[in-house]
Amino acid sequence: MSLNVTILYGSVRADRQGIRAVRFIDRQFRVRGHKTDVVDTLEYRLPLLDRMYKEYDGDAPEVLERLAQIYRASDGFVVVSGEYNHGIPPALKNLLDHFLEEYFYRPSGIVCYSAGRFGGVRAAMQLRMTLAELGTPSIPTIFAVPHVQDVFAEDGMPTDPAFERHVKGFLDEFEWYANALKSARTPSMPGTHIATSTECGVGESTETASGAD
Ligand SMILES: Cc1cc2nc3c(=O)[nH]c(=O)nc-3n(C[C@H](O)[C@H](O)[C@H](O)COP(=O)(O)O)c2cc1C
Repeated sequence: MSLNVTILYGSVRADRQGIRAVRFIDRQFRVRGHKTDVVDTLEYRLPLLDRMYKEYDGDAPEVLERLAQIYRASDGFVVVSGEYNHGIPPALKNLLDHFLEEYFYRPSGIVCYSAGRFGGVRAAMQLRMTLAELGTPSIPTIFAVPHVQDVFAEDGMPTDPAFERHVKGFLDEFEWYANALKSARTPSMPGTHIATSTECGVGESTETASGAD
């Protein structure tokens, strides 16, 4: 089944390298027949979080509205994350925090990378917690990329063709979860009415996110 895959990338540095991993993974999904949207924080230039999307109550800035539309049509999120001081890059966290319900009942997959040999896995562990809280739990397999500046060309082509074999397990697993949740999503899922409700369940996240505790 063809999926809508949303790829989130959160480095706005002039010399950023992770864009290579974004281009690599984007191509992999498209080759498999999926539609992709790359949400690049350098293009979208979100301000630091003031209000979450839902807090604008139908009057959100155009950039957030555009993102919300992409998210609502999405079957899953692939989060491409570097590691800044063993944590999540700030522009990525800022992007993630603007939304909540729009992630619900869709899986996420983590592609992490770094300039060194650990491949950004320490940031990936923090991302797992954040993504679970956002209602887009991450699939078990992480695709970690050490030495990102060396293993992909600027256009995302791997310098070692074996990379395309290595990523297969991640892609297969992401597809499985995205297809499974796509078939299971219905209008009557618990928590889908959260935006206008103060009930608990999945909605506890909403309470916390809007400062209720
Ligand atoms: C503020 C900052 C903190 C960093 N901290 C880490 C780190 O904790 N671990 C690591 O492996 N690399 C670290 N690096 C190096 C990054 O892995 C490398 O610069 C990578 O290319 C960053 O992703 P980007 O180019 O897409 O922004 C850091 C880089 C920056 C700019």
